Order: sequence, then structure tokens, then C-alpha cells
Amino acid sequence: MTIRSEIIGCGSYLPERLVTNAELSKKVDTTDEWIFSRTGIRQRHIAADGELTSDLALKAANNALEHAGITAAEVDLLILATTTPDNTFPATATKVQSQLGMVNGAAFDIQAVCSGFVYGMAIANNFIKAGQSKTVVLIGAETFSRILDWEDRTTCVLFGDGAGAVVIRAGEGGPDSPPGETGHNVGRGILSTHIHSDGSTNDLLYVDGGPSSTQTVGHVRMVGREVFRHAVTNLAGIVDEALEANGLAAEDIDWLVPHQANKRILDGTARKLGLPVEKMVVTVDRHANTSAASIPLALDEAVRDGRIKRGDLVLMEAMGGGLTWGAAMVRW
Ligand code: UT7
Repeated sequence: MTIRSEIIGCGSYLPERLVTNAELSKKVDTTDEWIFSRTGIRQRHIAADGELTSDLALKAANNALEHAGITAAEVDLLILATTTPDNTFPATATKVQSQLGMVNGAAFDIQAVCSGFVYGMAIANNFIKAGQSKTVVLIGAETFSRILDWEDRTTCVLFGDGAGAVVIRAGEGGPDSPPGETGHNVGRGILSTHIHSDGSTNDLLYVDGGPSSTQTVGHVRMVGREVFRHAVTNLAGIVDEALEANGLAAEDIDWLVPHQANKRILDGTARKLGLPVEKMVVTVDRHANTSAASIPLALDEAVRDGRIKRGDLVLMEAMGGGLTWGAAMVRW
């Protein structure tokens, strides 16, 4: 029997407080015009004082479980992708596990910065296919606002807070079961995942603190132009890799759900694929870059507003600090 990993629900949460570019321009030497023209960002959500990554993660996870129509009692693995854990340890995932009322299995955090969600998809898929887990909650949650240097205009305007989650369950039959009457492959599931990292570039995007180095939390530092250059190359490569692995062409993709770092990077990827921009889910204008949360936030929006439908071919891709990058091809 072939086991496939089926996404059976999704959910998300954004903190209430909205910060516009105009508001930021009162704090640092920037303008709405600069931010919007260079990044496509108009606003971002920022967590309230005392509102933690675990709070955001819990709300997104509950939302996803409700959407999937199951309870936490059925979940046997919880993976939380985050760069902004509540504490250095224990894993924030264990806090969410207990708040969710999940009593079986295991919970752990993973750290791949903005690629965290696609790394999580790879891990969840492999746990399910190995028969070790049956129902996984995968969350991407961040309070990036806590690690920003609010005096550094080159980074503080780019990020926001938020959380998104999916519920992934073991199903029977491979994703390559015969096409249904719509012509679409009826076997839903994760068709393939692809992850990469190149540690020689970790000085391009990093936090200048940590428990073992400075014993402080530190702030985000980025060589933006260089990261941009790597993003364009690495994302084009990973998209080709995902298509090739599945014997698919760019025109087969119904929806591209990219990590939301910069509208110019998103447009570049769509252009390289020859994919109309209408087939790409864009939230960067309203959410800014929410790191590991950006893909599940965008996914949830497009599923709930009816753009992504059962049977659609969905390609997710991301790149982040490390540098790390990856993709997941999913038949919704
Ligand atoms: O999610 C993880 C992956 N991250 C990314 O993919 C981010 C990739 N990088 C980027 O998105 C872009 O490089 C940025 C949006 C960060 C910057 O855009 P850019 O077009 O590469 O600008 P730049 O860094 O080359 O800076 C151009 C100018 C500089 O001034 P000078 O040296 O030309 O006088 C900056 O000092 O813009 C200035 N600048 C700003 N001006 C107003 C930088 N930040 C700001 C700002 N407001 N907030």
C-alpha cells in the first residue's frame, strides 16, 4: 500500500495591530513610496505587547484543525517552523502542544527561517510516508518584530508578524492514482518536496546574537541586494527541480504560493516560469515578510476565498537565511 500525505485543512492568524508605511516613516528615514516601489509592501501586522509566537501559532493551529474537522486528540506530530521562539528552550511547539490539548506523539520546532514552512512540509511528508505519523499539524509562526532593529530602515520596514498552519494526514493510494473526470489527478497529496541550504552564505542574512555567542537575542542583519540576487537564482532552480521531479511543465501549475519577501522577487519567479501573475497568490502588500508564516498565510487566504480548489496543482517555494531554500508540489 502506498501512503500519501494529504493536506486536509488550513488556518491562519494575524495580530490585530496594523502598521502602515506612513506610520513607519515617522520612526525611520523612509517613505511609503520607497517601501512600496522596492518591495510591494503597504502594511504589516505587529503582535501586541505580551502576544507571543506560541499565541499566534495556537490560533492558527486551532483554525486549521477546525477547517479539517478534527480535534487535537487525533494529532500525533506537531511541527512548528519559527525563528522567533518564545524562549531559547523548550521548543515553542511543546507549549502549543499542551495548549492545543494534544496528548499523543511528539512536538518540536524547526529552524530554517523563511524556508521553515517548506522544510516542515518535507519533514511531515517523510514522517507520514515512513509510517511514523498519521496526522501532523505543521505551523509557521513568527513574531519577527521582536528581532528587528527599529532604527535600521534597511530591514525594519520589510517584516511583519503572523501564523499559518496546515493539517496533513496519511491517506491511502499514491498521489499518482488515475485522473478523475475533471482530468485532474484525483489522488490528493504532497507530490514532492525539495530542500537545500548553502551555509557559506550565512553572513548575508542573520541575527547578530544568540545564546551561545552573545547571550542576547540580537537583531536581523541583511545584505539585501545580495540576498535578492541569490533569491532570483535559487528560486528559479528549485521551481525547475520540482517540475522536473514530477514530469510537469510550468503551464500545469494552477497556483504558485511563494514565500512573500518582495513583490519584485515574486514577479521575477512568475515571469521565469511564464506563469500569469493572476496564478500567483500575493499577500506581501498586506502582510509584509512574515518569514515561516508567509506561505501558510497565503495558502489559507486563497483556499478560503475559493481560488485554490480541490484537484488544483499548487507549487510552494521559499528562500531564507542560511541561506536555505525549498519547494513543495501539492495536488490540493
Ligand atoms: O525572506 C528572506 C529573503 N529576503 C529577501 O528576499 C530580501 C531580498 N532583498 C530585497 O528585497 C531588497 O534588496 C531590499 C528591499 C531589501 C532592498 O531593495 P534594493 O532595491 O536592493 O535597495 P538597496 O539595498 O540597493 O538600497 C538602495 C538605496 C540605498 O541608498 P543608496 O546607498 O543608494 O544611497 C539604501 O540606503 O535605498 C536606501 N534604502 C532606503 N531608503 C528609504 C534602504 N532602505 C530604505 C528605506 N527607505 N527603508
